[in-house]
Amino acid sequence: MFQTLDVPPEDPILGLIAAFRNDPAPDKVDLGVGVYRDERGATAVLETVKAAEQRLVTEQDSKTYLGPTGNERFNEAIATMVLGAKHAALRDSRVRTIQAPGGCGALRIGAELIKRANATTPIMVSDPTWANHVPLLSSAGLQLERYPYYDRASGTVQFDRMMSALESLPAGTMVLLHGACHNPTGADLSTQQWERVADLLSQRGLVPFVDLAYQGLGDGLDEDAYGARLLAEKLPEVLIAVSCSKNFGLYRERVGALIVVGQNRQQADAAAANLGKIARGIYSMPPDHGAAIVARILEDAKLATQWRRELTKMRERIGGLRKALSEALTLACPGRDFSQILNQRGMFSMLDLTPASVDRLRKDKHIYMPGDGRINISGLREQRVDYVAWSVAEEFGMNR
Ligand SMILES: Cc1ncc(COP(=O)(O)O)c(C=O)c1O
Repeated sequence: MFQTLDVPPEDPILGLIAAFRNDPAPDKVDLGVGVYRDERGATAVLETVKAAEQRLVTEQDSKTYLGPTGNERFNEAIATMVLGAKHAALRDSRVRTIQAPGGCGALRIGAELIKRANATTPIMVSDPTWANHVPLLSSAGLQLERYPYYDRASGTVQFDRMMSALESLPAGTMVLLHGACHNPTGADLSTQQWERVADLLSQRGLVPFVDLAYQGLGDGLDEDAYGARLLAEKLPEVLIAVSCSKNFGLYRERVGALIVVGQNRQQADAAAANLGKIARGIYSMPPDHGAAIVARILEDAKLATQWRRELTKMRERIGGLRKALSEALTLACPGRDFSQILNQRGMFSMLDLTPASVDRLRKDKHIYMPGDGRINISGLREQRVDYVAWSVAEEFGMNR
């Protein structure tokens, strides 16, 4: 049977991880993989997660099944974290939350729900978007199309082009939006731009699917949820895929949720019931361990405060590195503007490098990033910022 299978091409990021691991250079720099790294270069377990996990081990008295919608304490806590406790959609009982295996699981069951409800319209994604959106959404049978989003040369959102593309879409079209910390570009919508997008979607009858994978790593927990909250307030139907991988550092525990906002109670219930069936048909039930940890953190004022402090530390570290890199590049490349690195948010930025430059940086300078020039800012160590900036400057044609 297996002899009929073609071997698919290797995921470029996995190839990059292997190449980095095998590089013996002591000062190699990994800007490739999309996980947060601290000043030691480690992706450590958060102290708050350790404390909640210890509590969980002591308190938990059963590991029996919970059901396809997962841990209800987690679902309630995460809906409050994303929408804010006083959101009108929560008050009107239009919100349902189903736990999922990571943000990826949430995107996949969301795509399956769209397919069930609205089989014909395509889903619009930003150009560029996170590479894994393509298999996650298309494997549910959705057809993906792109809307203009990012101007590579200036490192900013091409907002007018984005708006005119959205304006021409037929009613009912799904639009995937990155809630905050756009992956791979770091270029986010401003609050005014979110307002214009919400008005346009509402006028044209378009349905937003928000991917919120970095809440708290941009400007703050509430600030980063601005777009999702606004859409849930102004529009009758919204889907929000949430990930706890980055902001709780729970990557391998696979913690996420899909929040659906329906036009009314009955429609929200129908969406949730369908999602339960969809989950049952794919993985049956999501894993509980990480969700139980998140629920304990968010329900406990002391743990929640401690977690927010840890999250703030991550966010501020990224902000500091953005500033340092933008200044170092400005110094190394006179006449070029790198203010966009400072203005972007979250873990990623994109350097306007050719694939050949990216290759040379890897071979000659031991600096690793994917071919599109996306860099994980948190992968920089402070003492290596100048080295990276001067190496990149050479590729921009600057000589020392
Ligand atoms: C844009 C985006 N969405 C969703 C995810 C989902 O991640 P996970 O499934 O690990 O929670 C990620 C992770 O890298 C991401 O970058």
